[in-house]
Amino acid sequence: MTGNAARAFDPSTDSKQLVAAELAGDDVSLLDFARKAGRNIFSVIPEATRTQTYLRGPANMHYVCDPAMITELLAGVGRHFPKSSFTHNVIGPAVGNGMILSEGQKWRTQRHRYAPLFAARNLPVLTSHFAGTGEELGEFFAKANGKVDVADAAQEATLTNISRVMFSGNEAVSKQDVRNGMRRFTDYISYMSLFDLMGLPKWMPRKKWLKSKKPIHSLRQLARDVIETRQAKRHETPEDFLDLLIEALESDSEDIDTTVDNLLTFVAAGYETSANTIAWGLYLLAMHPETQSMIRQEVLRACPSGAIAFEDLQKMPLLQAHVRETLRLYPAGALFARDATERTETNGVIFEKGDVIMFPVYSLHGHEELWDAPQEYRLDRFLDKTYPRGQYIPFGDGPRICIGAQYAETEIMVLLASALCRVSFEMTGDVLPAPVLTFTMRPGGPIVLTAKSLG
Ligand code: HEM
Repeated sequence: MTGNAARAFDPSTDSKQLVAAELAGDDVSLLDFARKAGRNIFSVIPEATRTQTYLRGPANMHYVCDPAMITELLAGVGRHFPKSSFTHNVIGPAVGNGMILSEGQKWRTQRHRYAPLFAARNLPVLTSHFAGTGEELGEFFAKANGKVDVADAAQEATLTNISRVMFSGNEAVSKQDVRNGMRRFTDYISYMSLFDLMGLPKWMPRKKWLKSKKPIHSLRQLARDVIETRQAKRHETPEDFLDLLIEALESDSEDIDTTVDNLLTFVAAGYETSANTIAWGLYLLAMHPETQSMIRQEVLRACPSGAIAFEDLQKMPLLQAHVRETLRLYPAGALFARDATERTETNGVIFEKGDVIMFPVYSLHGHEELWDAPQEYRLDRFLDKTYPRGQYIPFGDGPRICIGAQYAETEIMVLLASALCRVSFEMTGDVLPAPVLTFTMRPGGPIVLTAKSLG
């Protein structure tokens, strides 16, 4: 980050009341937790997680918001603790053995296999795909030239990106089919039953499972079709993500179900998370017009021709700081968890074997002891400043840190920059929905802004 960018920005002129999640006011009993968490996990995370760095939850749950403890539990003594069983119960039926949930040697092999796809050296190529989608997104906003649901437009764009990057954009299955399948799938995983959250044994009947497994079946079938179509006309040397997934399948290191799991893992993990960050990012810019105009100027200076290349992004420190501040205020991965597999003591707190350790990222990022005026949008937080490890973890930490972090940051910057070149964003005067947390954090309804074409 450059010193000039930090000096050029004056935060004192730009603070506003932002939409925020409503956390639980009082102590949450196990029964409350069970009753309410399926609709919105925020409604059971105690407000006190924003003022205390450690809190005991109901039953065997713990909330940790202390940066040093978080680092110890994710990257130190607890680095091998598995993903919690409730996460398995919620998304397991769809992405079962995929990288996001697998453990041990199986996870190591997958992480090693797919890491090159996300490596820094691939970012220039990824950027060229994202820039194509960015131009379409800018055009869409410019044509709308009025009220528009930016969350919906951003989802369409990130799905287009996944389709371009994963399938070279030319599979037999249409993008609309994938989008509809994903929509049904995310609606399905957003409906969590009490048993999912409590992590009860697998043999117990879950309401959701009894209701219908159809969205999972049809999405998996769609993924199978994509894999089989490509297998029939495979490229000699791998050209995109799908070729590499198929290579793993054909070299016998994966079976077809695991390949389907991984395909769905990448689509599921990389679609709504980035899209919602873009939508919140545009909302924050509409709320802070002066910052919006400074960032637009920075983008136009860095990239006068409009077609964004990877090197151009290095010249956009304000935009990068904006993305980081957006992920602080509205982290898509607002809560994740581990199960302790052995008795562990960290900072005087004892975690017994089998305890659930929750990392409430939303509370951590808005913690009153850790951040100055945490509810305010302040771009300068991420200009020329660093924070202790464990204080800012939008992508997690330790060995299970998000493999798509650089992909996501690049994608979000490119799509925001492309939109800002074509339109300005303003608030409509309508009340915006608060964030809700199901599996990931998402807006509780459309984010409607006014897009004004810049001509
Ligand atoms: C703003 C966008 C994103 C956010 C905030 C985000 C957040 C996260 C977080 C917090 C984790 C760690 C969860 C844990 O430790 O339990 C994670 C893991 C993961 N993410 Fe992301 N993610 C984003 C985008 C993406 C994208 C674009 C992809 C792929 C295309 C992706 C793929 C994955 C995968 C495969 C894992 C599991 C990694 C492993 O367990 O080894 N994510 N993400």
